[in-house]
Amino acid sequence: QTADSLHIINAFAQQFFSKQLFESEEGQAIALSYLKERGFREDIIHKFQIGYSPRQRDAFTSEALRQQYNPELLTKTGIVAERNGELMDNYRERIIFPVHNNTGKIIGFGARIIGKKENAPKYINTPENEVYVKSKILYGTYFARQSIDKNDECLLVEGYTDVVSLHQAGIENVVASGGTSLTQDQLRLIKKYTNNLTILYDGDAAGVKAAMRGLDLALEEGLNVRLVLIPDNEDPDSYVNKVGAAGFNEFIRNNKKDVILFQLEVMLKDAGNDSTKKAAAVNTIAESISRINKVEDFTRKQDYIKKSAELLKIDEAGLLTLVNKLTS
Ligand code: UTP
Ligand code: MN
Ligand code: MN
Ligand code: MN
Ligand code: MN
Repeated sequence: QTADSLHIINAFAQQFFSKQLFESEEGQAIALSYLKERGFREDIIHKFQIGYSPRQRDAFTSEALRQQYNPELLTKTGIVAERNGELMDNYRERIIFPVHNNTGKIIGFGARIIGKKENAPKYINTPENEVYVKSKILYGTYFARQSIDKNDECLLVEGYTDVVSLHQAGIENVVASGGTSLTQDQLRLIKKYTNNLTILYDGDAAGVKAAMRGLDLALEEGLNVRLVLIPDNEDPDSYVNKVGAAGFNEFIRNNKKDVILFQLEVMLKDAGNDSTKKAAAVNTIAESISRINKVEDFTRKQDYIKKSAELLKIDEAGLLTLVNKLTS
């Protein structure tokens, strides 16, 4: 049915894009050199099946039509688009990151512009279709599963290049959310493999906010969430390139923060001596703790109440009462 057809077209397109990257003069000059300049090795480019879509407006489209692929299905994959009644390529002069499902089939693509351009989006992603459902996709799961299992931990990053660079550095238990807020379906996917989620987001305000948005949802799913903020306007990709694999691992080890207590620290710092803000912090933290409502997490809940009461300099029993009141 449709899903199979889309998988087949995507596989064909991936082969086309790979060939363009490694074998065409244009691909080598524009794209392969760009990837190498950024520090990506050929073995890792092959592993993730990264490719290049040429500048010519119908490079892929004409090839696909010549091979009798159905125009309607081609359009559905998002690789081909109709403009003024004409079919042409949707990704032009871009690096192509295939997105795989859990069995390794290609369900979509992220197409990155080369270098910086003013009026074009950095990435173009596959539109929603029968096989590409954004809210259920985490980039990299196919390559990360074994390692998540072995480490009993899943690292979550923002982008494609973060996943690829960490793999190259030997850190393979990593998936990407694609820069949007985490969904319940994505968290359930992680929960199937492990209870331990470590979020590696940019240390800037947007990164902290994004991490926090996912927090309550993750707690509701019963995940044990920790947080690492990547410093100095870096992301995991740029940071691992800067400090190397060993340095990166050490940084993670030393900077993993329990996310509830981290949230509390941020709020307390912001509150200072303001008693209204402090009261709001107590409520927010009680709210977060009350979301840990799995029976088997009883000790974890107690531990949070104890540590939070300490940080807040309030009575443990009082916090417990508040948490219980909020637990439905
Ligand atoms: P970033 O802007 O941090 O890009 O977006 P990046 O992953 O670091 O990519 P490089 O290193 O600059 O090449 C993080 C993620 O958000 C999604 C992509 O999934 C991206 O990897 N995103 C970003 C989009 O979907 N569209 C965009 O225009 C930008
Ligand atoms: Mn950022
Ligand atoms: Mn970013
Ligand atoms: Mn980034
Ligand atoms: Mn980046």
